[in-house]
Amino acid sequence: MSDSAPGRATITVAVRVWRQAPDATVGRFERYLVEIAQGDHVLNLLAALRRQHDPTLCYPDHFCKIGTCGACALLVDGKPALGCRTLVAGDTIEIAPPRGRAILADLLSAASGT
Ligand code: FES
Repeated sequence: MSDSAPGRATITVAVRVWRQAPDATVGRFERYLVEIAQGDHVLNLLAALRRQHDPTLCYPDHFCKIGTCGACALLVDGKPALGCRTLVAGDTIEIAPPRGRAILADLLSAASGT
């Protein structure tokens, strides 16, 4: 199923995303191929991953989405980034929780809430 937005081309992105169970102290990267619309942000990609592959994926998805609250802080390709403001560039991406925060589950950290 395509999640492309009207008028935008669909692209397939190879995603490495951090997965960690809520009660676990360790996690691991898992790989997915995700279809998104060209020009989507990282949070759009995570929503598409959830719809296309795994509805249990946890990430900060119900905050401002305009770059002001900081709840969607992530590591994107190893660099700190806001998921709601960072465009997906290229056809590969790695997404991990931010450093220095306790991981509640997957990409959801203590500072981003539940
Ligand atoms: S959701 Fe608030 S800064 Fe991204």
